[in-house]
Amino acid sequence: MASLRQAGSLPFFVRRFVAGPSAADAVTVAQDLAKQSIDTTVDLLGENLRDRPRIEASAQAYVSLLEALHGAGLTPYISIKLTMLGLDVDPGLSLALASRVARRADELGGRVCLDMEGSGYTERTLAIYEQLSKNHKSAEIVLQAQLHRTREDIHRVLAAGGRMRLCKGAYKETSGHALQRMDEIRTRFIELLEVLLPRAQRTCIATHDDAIIHAAERLLSSSAPGDSKIPTESYEFQMLYGLRRRTWTALRQKGHNFTVYVPYGLEWQPYYRRRLAERKENVLFILKNFLRH
Ligand code: FDA
Repeated sequence: MASLRQAGSLPFFVRRFVAGPSAADAVTVAQDLAKQSIDTTVDLLGENLRDRPRIEASAQAYVSLLEALHGAGLTPYISIKLTMLGLDVDPGLSLALASRVARRADELGGRVCLDMEGSGYTERTLAIYEQLSKNHKSAEIVLQAQLHRTREDIHRVLAAGGRMRLCKGAYKETSGHALQRMDEIRTRFIELLEVLLPRAQRTCIATHDDAIIHAAERLLSSSAPGDSKIPTESYEFQMLYGLRRRTWTALRQKGHNFTVYVPYGLEWQPYYRRRLAERKENVLFILKNFLRH
């Protein structure tokens, strides 16, 4: 584990959302959660790399992370951003490096999810997923319910391998690309789940939103007479580290598979800004802690 240690530390107000500066911190969190039968997907923070040695180093870091999780007795499940693997520079390089990571995940019986970034990256990320999933059963992709195009994209993912994580979408998009109202995004999310749950190999329901969680539970329990029930292993709920901890256990106790997204690393600012932007309660939590400090 010593080689996974990274110099540096995180400000106290970041520690709520980020496991720590190093992969070893994320592995420790994953081991603790595994004791409660809660799975984890680990994310090395960072995005938009343009420097080739750093891009190559990210691919190696992802491979080392898979190995560290496996070595700790866990199913290695990681989430990666293709802009860490050179998507801004050369999509061919990005595909080659993502394949290297996915190959190692296959060998270790793990999973690799391609996080989805802003809409300028959607087509390229989906195209890489389509290539990856031809040879790697570990490959998964995120789709964002807020984007208009997702209604078509889910059929491409179902045709390619059908392993996906559905979330609302954390990036500010124009009305030309995305729904703008929360009630519309929620309704769309549930409509997409209706298509995915009976068909996908794996549907990861990534939200903290009770309205969507309850709707998903209704869909899961209401197969029409004669329909086979959606098997437990074909879906899971997912939430972000630091948010709604009590709900993790509650959903697990109901028999649903549950995964926590655990980020680590020193490049925490963009991830952190997105968490603050999506909920005013997150900002209040930070302010309260500042005052207490
Ligand atoms: P949102 O923040 O919209 O809140 C909706 C409601 O949920 C609230 O009104 C409240 O009722 C309830 N709620 C939320 N947080 C709560 C809390 N802490 N306590 C109590 N109630 C709470 N995005 C992206 O663009 N690309 C990606 O690759 C990913 N990946 C990803 C993985 C995983 C595992 C998750 C959970 C999320 C992502 N996201 C993402 C982020 C996602 O798109 C979205 O921005 C956030 O999940 C916020 O939306 P929610 O639906 O979770 O709740």
